[in-house]
Amino acid sequence: MTEARFPALRLRRTRSTSWSRAMVAENHIAPAHLIWPLFITEGTGVEEPIATLPGVSRWSVDGIVKQAREARKLGISCVALFPNTPRNLRTDDGREALNADNLMCRATRAIKDALGDELGVLTDVALDPYTAHGHDGLVNDKGYVLNDETSAVLVEQALNQANAGADIIAPSDMMDGRIGDIRGALEGSGHINVQIMAYSAKYASAFYGPFRDAVGSGGLLKGDKKTYQMDHANSEEALREVALDIAEGADSVMVKPGLPYLDIIRRVKDRFEVPVFAYQVSGEYAMIEAAAAAGAGDRDALVLETLLAFRRAGCSGVLTYHAAHAARLLNG
Ligand code: PBG
Repeated sequence: MTEARFPALRLRRTRSTSWSRAMVAENHIAPAHLIWPLFITEGTGVEEPIATLPGVSRWSVDGIVKQAREARKLGISCVALFPNTPRNLRTDDGREALNADNLMCRATRAIKDALGDELGVLTDVALDPYTAHGHDGLVNDKGYVLNDETSAVLVEQALNQANAGADIIAPSDMMDGRIGDIRGALEGSGHINVQIMAYSAKYASAFYGPFRDAVGSGGLLKGDKKTYQMDHANSEEALREVALDIAEGADSVMVKPGLPYLDIIRRVKDRFEVPVFAYQVSGEYAMIEAAAAAGAGDRDALVLETLLAFRRAGCSGVLTYHAAHAARLLNG
């Protein structure tokens, strides 16, 4: 393409009024692109604010249903559920993950009973909210997270969640081969339309701190997750992870964390014809809230700018703790 030259070419022309900027905007974000993570706790009528995630609380199942109704009203597509399992139910093998009446399953059933197909429910597959050591899988006596043994348990966890009514199974554990195992089990048990959103490129990140407070695993975690989550030095490897998960039957893939990894999202989107999601994680949320509280930026503008950045990078949607707030802003 041969462009005109200045002054015939003035890129500021289309920028000069707001109607014109709206007319030529290349990317958009709408409430339907948002997935809202919610934290569940035991009890009735309980709301527990999370200190490191200002503005975010854990809710008992009745409160979760209210949040889900609110999400639906705002036009949000889907909620993502995370349980704060009572300490006495956390064991080395994380067996509470397989209990058909655990917090996650009760919350899923309650939302589905209330809203049916009006709102998606995404459930996280990994053992960290259920283990006494805070790791996502089964560990050996050296503290190493075992791959194949863990994958076998994750299959049971995924089936447990699908039986409770989960619409999207989202394995966040980074074990090799688990997407294929879970897909096979879902097909084999009649859950043919339950989607898998694979946390394909999930990095061992310093941005997960507040989440670990929220699900109560932070204080329990021994060591780090670097033998299973990805090294943040790598991006070629992210493409290999995504390719494997697609080949094993993932319906969509995720890159996590979000903003520091926009380059990965773009590479994945350029390479694969598959819906890509980003998880704007707890530490990113906390950074925006801290910046706004310190007067270093306008909260609403920071929220909308970061969310649109994910769309520009190629995302179909974003998991964000700002989902309800952003949806309210977008709905005017
Ligand atoms: C657990 C899981 C984590 C997050 C989502 N699922 C934490 C971790 O891997 O330690 C992080 C989300 C966030 O920080 O908001 N497998």
